[in-house]
Amino acid sequence: MILAGLSREIEENLNKGSWIRKLFDEGARLKKEFGDDQVFDFSLGNPIVEPPEAFKRALIEEAEKGHHGYIQNQGLPAAREKVAQFLASRFEAEFSAERVVMTVGAGGALNVALKSIVNPGEEVIILAPYFAEYKLYIENYGGKAVSCPLTSRFEIDIEAVRQSINPKTKGLILNTPHNPTGTVLSQKNIDDLGALLKEIEEKSGQTIYVLFDEPYSQLIYDEELANPFQSYHRVILASSFSKDLGIAGERLGYIGLDSKMPDAGFEFEMPKGGFFVFPKSPIEDEVAFCVHAAQKYKLLIVPSSGFGMKGHFRLSFSVPTEQIKNSRDIFISLYRDFA
Ligand SMILES: Cc1ncc(COP(=O)(O)O)c(C=O)c1O
Repeated sequence: MILAGLSREIEENLNKGSWIRKLFDEGARLKKEFGDDQVFDFSLGNPIVEPPEAFKRALIEEAEKGHHGYIQNQGLPAAREKVAQFLASRFEAEFSAERVVMTVGAGGALNVALKSIVNPGEEVIILAPYFAEYKLYIENYGGKAVSCPLTSRFEIDIEAVRQSINPKTKGLILNTPHNPTGTVLSQKNIDDLGALLKEIEEKSGQTIYVLFDEPYSQLIYDEELANPFQSYHRVILASSFSKDLGIAGERLGYIGLDSKMPDAGFEFEMPKGGFFVFPKSPIEDEVAFCVHAAQKYKLLIVPSSGFGMKGHFRLSFSVPTEQIKNSRDIFISLYRDFA
């Protein structure tokens, strides 16, 4: 049944349907008709193993304690702290609870990450063959999924990725261990990708995020899992306990950023009137900072001491839009001079 008045996008998606969903429906129909043991269904990525007893006990204990009301949007601080410790020990990198967000599964983590970085019209590269939901996740935020093939051995084809990148590229989704091929990407392969993205950032100032989707990270056989945080400084880890604990239905996922990920740059209060903005100077001596901006970049901003306060600078955005656009890279370089 398809309801009247649906958006074109949803109607199209329902009409197309994914193969997995069709197989799911068909499997249910066949099992009903012929019995469970007469249908040989290899189509679903749903863990069949029951979660560990300790998990079930902890879940009951927590449910009895409470925690049924609203909590912080980012998740319970204690849970975020535990995930930060887990990530720090796995990746030998610094993670703090501040940079962990609890999400509705890895799917929710990818959606939160994409919503945070993608502007309508921007592109995100997905490596084919890929988890079919990626395209829909990207399109949720007006982004465009750009499919780029893996090599014949299902490794990242660095040259193909280079060809797929253009000024609209905002991210790339990496998945290892990989659904659907079972490949585990090597450290060297991810290092090469990191080197390419760094080269692009250094040459053009373009920021490209790697969304590292790894809900199968605890299910590996002989291989060593690569550490993407060693290879690149803009990795957004998206994961969950769906597969390894067999709790896909509990929807327990998270996002993790390491401390190397550069933050959003200048700190400022969003102006609510007028045409001034008053960011914090990245160094204490804001006069020296403004002098540096003028001398190195011909960028004229006013030190806050002139307004009876230290540590900030003022800029007026009552200037032509072109000037604002053209100064973008200068502000990025200026920030990096002191970061
Ligand atoms: C590659 C990949 N990413 C993300 C997900 C979503 O995982 P979750 O159930 O934790 O949202 C899946 C689930 O099958 C997956 O295979």
